[in-house]
Amino acid sequence: MRLAQCSNYHDFRELARRRLPGPIFNYIDGAADDETTYRRNTQAFEDCDLVPNVLTGVAQVDLSVTVMGQKLAMPFYCSPTALQRLFHYEGERAVARAVNKFGTMFGVSSLGTLSLEEIASSFSFPQVYQFYFHKDRGLNKAMIDRAKTAGVKIMMLTVDSITGGNRERDLRTGFSIPLRLTLAGMLQFAVKPRWALNYFTHERFRLPQLEEHVDMGGGATSIGDYFTNMLDPSMSWADVADMVKRWNGKFCLKGIMSVDDAKKAADIGCAGIVVSNHGGRQLDGSRSGFDQLAEIVDAVGDRVDVLVDGGVRRGSHVLKALSVGAKAVGAGRYYLFALAAAGEAGVERALQLMRLELERDMRLMGCTSVSQLSRRNLRFRSSVR
Ligand code: FNR
Ligand code: LAC
Repeated sequence: MRLAQCSNYHDFRELARRRLPGPIFNYIDGAADDETTYRRNTQAFEDCDLVPNVLTGVAQVDLSVTVMGQKLAMPFYCSPTALQRLFHYEGERAVARAVNKFGTMFGVSSLGTLSLEEIASSFSFPQVYQFYFHKDRGLNKAMIDRAKTAGVKIMMLTVDSITGGNRERDLRTGFSIPLRLTLAGMLQFAVKPRWALNYFTHERFRLPQLEEHVDMGGGATSIGDYFTNMLDPSMSWADVADMVKRWNGKFCLKGIMSVDDAKKAADIGCAGIVVSNHGGRQLDGSRSGFDQLAEIVDAVGDRVDVLVDGGVRRGSHVLKALSVGAKAVGAGRYYLFALAAAGEAGVERALQLMRLELERDMRLMGCTSVSQLSRRNLRFRSSVR
């Protein structure tokens, strides 16, 4: 299977599975506990049907949206994700180059392997810097100031990872940073020599957002333990309100699921929230972001821009979320598997396919601009709602 044969998420995932050592594939593909929420995230879109209109004149379709003051050429963006150099030796650089061609938004993770300064100075697309609230308050302040100096436009604090999710696939393989594996995990590396060659002959794996502040003590840590040991479980609304003030710009909370929290986010001056369960990687059993979207949009949609991610695999999923009232829709694994499959060319193809699907499905829905999508075009199947 080659990149040119990849037509969708499933193809990228399969190509990534063939190219990546098992522990790395399973880190991306895995989720918490029984992975119920992970499966539910995509199922939720499938439990909702689109009802198109016809004969509306759809020769020209405008996919652009404005999110937290930033114009995006399409309503789909790349959610922030960690450790991209492990997935492909070009890591964030490959993703950033591809995103730049499509005029959308890309979040750089505080666990990213490229510095936020390099991204900010090389690309003009809306910059999102995603950060985690560490126990080390000095680190938190330094991160905010660094991002400001670098010219980052949107600060995104992830609030659903205050302790590590129970990722049992990682426990089985021993996946950790720096890489240290169980014997079974090591064998899986040995059978992917091409990945290993690329990884070891290109620039060294680094976590430039953190390395000045976090001493891993030369040891290896799992992502779950990193969250549990390094992040601050006492983080409160008052702490975040202070950060919003310190940032003094567009601030966004990622991982909001309840209406009460959405209201609090609006009250402390956030410009946006991402309704998200972290791709099912944290609290298994959590509701899907898409299912939870309507009540949050109804409660705060006039005060903050509401975004959503989790389970998005198709343009039609994006249109469903926009119809409920999301301003833009993010995805993680959709572009990560494409990155792992073929680097920059892979992400470019994934974004190209997504844009084509969005354009085609907008036409088939009878819509020429995103603002024409509404709940009138949706029917939910389940009687539970
Ligand atoms: C993530 N996600 C994530 N979120 C975040 O705020 N900071 C991070 O560093 C990461 N890292 C990360 C790594 C990997 C491998 C994955 C799959 C996900 C969560 C991400 O931003 C997003 O919420 C989910 O990926 C959305 O679900 P889908 O699109 O992957 O189904
Ligand atoms: C994850 C992180 C790092 O989900 O957010 O693995």
